[in-house]
Amino acid sequence: MSAPAASQFTVPPRHVVITGASSGIGAALARYYARSGTRLSLLARDAARLESVAQGCRSSGAVVETRTGDVTDAAAMEDWLLACDARAPIDLLFANAGIGGGAGESLARRV
Ligand SMILES: NC(=O)c1ccc[n+]([C@@H]2O[C@H](COP(=O)([O-])OP(=O)(O)OC[C@H]3O[C@@H](n4cnc5c(N)ncnc54)[C@H](OP(=O)(O)O)[C@@H]3O)[C@@H](O)[C@H]2O)c1
Repeated sequence: MSAPAASQFTVPPRHVVITGASSGIGAALARYYARSGTRLSLLARDAARLESVAQGCRSSGAVVETRTGDVTDAAAMEDWLLACDARAPIDLLFANAGIGGGAGESLARRV
């Protein structure tokens, strides 16, 4: 399934939150939604890779805030999401952070 084109939203999302935004699908989503008038809140563990994605999105006109963190830390995630929503109401959230097969069921369940 492909992501809906921005034009398909009656009101384009103004604040998009993406976990696992430092690579793969999350980074692609960040680049897809990056445009003038859009705020992106991006999270992953690798600060350098996350900042690289963020810089590209800023070049496309988006306002981007990054957070280095681990989604298995539930309390930190709650704090972060509440802070994101307080800055600007969240329109769209991609809980994308994850790991592929072979990592083990216990780790996969935690993430
Ligand atoms: N690609 C596929 O064909 C496919 C198919 C089915 C499902 N999926 C799911 O789609 C999601 C993204 O897949 P992908 O292929 O884009 O994977 P990817 O390239 O490995 O990207 C995973 C992202 O999640 C972040 N991440 C991983 N564990 C994290 C944690 N504990 N806390 C915070 N961030 C974490 C990684 O960044 P850091 O390492 O910087 O934290 C990275 O940005 C995953 O949930 C995957 O299981 C993918």
